[in-house]
Amino acid sequence: MKRPSSDPNQRHAVSATPGLTTTEAPFVEEAKSKGELYIHQPYELYSEENHETWRRLYSRMLPRWRQFANSRFLEGIDALRLDPERVPKLEDVNRFLSPLTGFRAKAVSGYIPAFLFFDCLRNREFPTTITIRRSDKLDYLPEPDIFHDIAGHVPMHTDCAFADTLVRFGDCAHTAVEMAAEIRNEAEQLRVLTSIVKATARFFWFTVEFGLMRSGAGLKVYGSGLLSSYGEIGHSIESPDVQRYPIQLEWVINQAFEIHHYQPLLFIVDSFDHLFSLVDRLEKWMREGRLNNVAPGEPEVNETDLRSFLRAA
Ligand SMILES: [Fe+2]
Repeated sequence: MKRPSSDPNQRHAVSATPGLTTTEAPFVEEAKSKGELYIHQPYELYSEENHETWRRLYSRMLPRWRQFANSRFLEGIDALRLDPERVPKLEDVNRFLSPLTGFRAKAVSGYIPAFLFFDCLRNREFPTTITIRRSDKLDYLPEPDIFHDIAGHVPMHTDCAFADTLVRFGDCAHTAVEMAAEIRNEAEQLRVLTSIVKATARFFWFTVEFGLMRSGAGLKVYGSGLLSSYGEIGHSIESPDVQRYPIQLEWVINQAFEIHHYQPLLFIVDSFDHLFSLVDRLEKWMREGRLNNVAPGEPEVNETDLRSFLRAA
């Protein structure tokens, strides 16, 4: 692969190119300023530094995935034929992904309001960040980047049961809209919707983002927040500081979480079929009003997210 040149002039040229970096990406900023949520991936804008960041992230994660990731993720990495050396092109990823489960990675400019995010999943589209973290910030990133989305999430989308689970999350968002539409009092409608969205976000967090799964070879990771974190993936399985419990829906929907440190509490599912059955139950509970009064606390449900549900009503 091409590396940043040792020629000082050229090196200056490389570092002076913002490329598509999470902290600086004029192309993405312009799209956001125009209110464009869905964009294309201007592949030519990635700098050599961006590609080098991908190469470093990928090469250091590979042995960790082999040690800690569930087998379907490892099969997914192979099936997608990700290039360890270059930031992936979404069209290449989709060429291998779509025939397997119908899922596609869809480029977005940044944060997607909650209803639209889940609705994309229902249509087997995964909103995908195209920027990549800075080369001097490989370890910590509060927001998603293309490494988290493509290397952490998308390999799981090659698995049929997992892909169907994501679609069921999308169904849940539509059920939330139905439930909210039945409430006439506006304040009560907002209160109930906030509770339902909070419960769903918590369940998504403790499964799709930070889930652990039992296997014949011991506990394995399937949550993408863990699969894209060099430090936390091993910590989640091995650290005595982490509490790990068999998942219970009534616990998870009432459990607050914080995003700025390693997770001290994780939940274990038996299989992807088990996970699917839990999302089914989540939707059933939503219909029965059992998500209308979940415990207060994180995550906060912001106005943009609530409005995205109300607009769909
Ligand atoms: Fe994520």
